[in-house]
Amino acid sequence: MNKTENRKDEHVRVSLEKNVNAEYNYWDDIVLIHNALPEINKDDIDLSTSFLGRRLGAPIIIASMTGGYIKAKKINENLAVAAEKYQIGMGVGSQRAALEKKELRDTYSVIKDYDIPLRIANIGASQLTQWDYRKSLENANEMIDMIDAHAFIVCLNFLQEAVMPEGEANAKGVFDVIEKLACDLDTPVIVKESGAGISYDVACRLRDTNISAIDVGGLGGTSFAAIEHYRAKIVDDKLHERGGKTFWNWGIPTPMSILEVGDATEWSIPIIATGGIRNGLDAAKAIVLGASCAGIARVLLKPATKSKDDVLFEIDAIIKELRAAMFLTGTSSISKMSDVEWDVIGAGLWI
Ligand SMILES: Cc1cc2nc3c(=O)[nH]c(=O)nc-3n(C[C@H](O)[C@H](O)[C@H](O)COP(=O)(O)O)c2cc1C
Repeated sequence: MNKTENRKDEHVRVSLEKNVNAEYNYWDDIVLIHNALPEINKDDIDLSTSFLGRRLGAPIIIASMTGGYIKAKKINENLAVAAEKYQIGMGVGSQRAALEKKELRDTYSVIKDYDIPLRIANIGASQLTQWDYRKSLENANEMIDMIDAHAFIVCLNFLQEAVMPEGEANAKGVFDVIEKLACDLDTPVIVKESGAGISYDVACRLRDTNISAIDVGGLGGTSFAAIEHYRAKIVDDKLHERGGKTFWNWGIPTPMSILEVGDATEWSIPIIATGGIRNGLDAAKAIVLGASCAGIARVLLKPATKSKDDVLFEIDAIIKELRAAMFLTGTSSISKMSDVEWDVIGAGLWI
């Protein structure tokens, strides 16, 4: 395994073995107001939705996680089976490893064998600054072709880059590349955070580009600072172990980020809400707040390392919970979820 493969493997292993969640899950502060007279039948509720011109069976996306080392192929395949069955979206992890080593392509491209309505390619933003623009465009097209992608994610992962030992914290010029790629690629570009959220000001800057969606990737779920803390611990790297701990809870809570991005863009750019979604009720809350889809990563990781059936069980449960939340709020379709009343409780002073 080269360094990139090794890191990918470690990220997955640490995420499985340790509690790498942010200390607080902000979805617990949001409540949907119960409707005791819903006047609809649960089985008649329509969960289907349209996102980036693609028809999804439910507003759920399996968030970008893995690929790039041998064992990741099976993980992506198990996730792909469920994405096909429930007709939901699916992202792969950063495809940098397959650009560096062609033999690893099938750890991502395995998802092409499945009829998934929205396949999403992925690269970390700091990688883009290491190539000249012509190379960035060429590589982006290669990653898109690799999985026959319907969308391309540029992942803003500067928290991780700032705290990991081998981090490439090069953010200068990223906005410029995003702006150009969004014009030059034939595939829609999604800008995604990976756990620290998108603020009002950043969303204002993105609003003026040609990007097609924003994944707010907020605080409250998987913390990459926590992952790096544990990775550093394995090799007794005290400096990075400490940095990971210091920044463990850094970022903008996912629900707050949805509202900030929505305000900044006047809801003109579709939002994906990733970060701390544990079940179908959290997904329902995200859609009520204004997201078009909920992105789910870590709760699907363990099932995906076990079997297809484990992933199918988890996605089925999430979709059933989403349906139940819609029933209990009297909502017959996804587009009507923006009418659902919600409130903030508990520690929700951040909103
Ligand atoms: C093991 C692991 C690897 C990840 N790799 C990527 C990646 O390569 N690209 C990316 O955009 N996000 C990556 N993510 C971030 C997720 O897509 C997601 O934004 C984050 O985990 C928060 O969602 P969660 O709370 O549901 O886990 C990764 C997450 C995990 C757990």
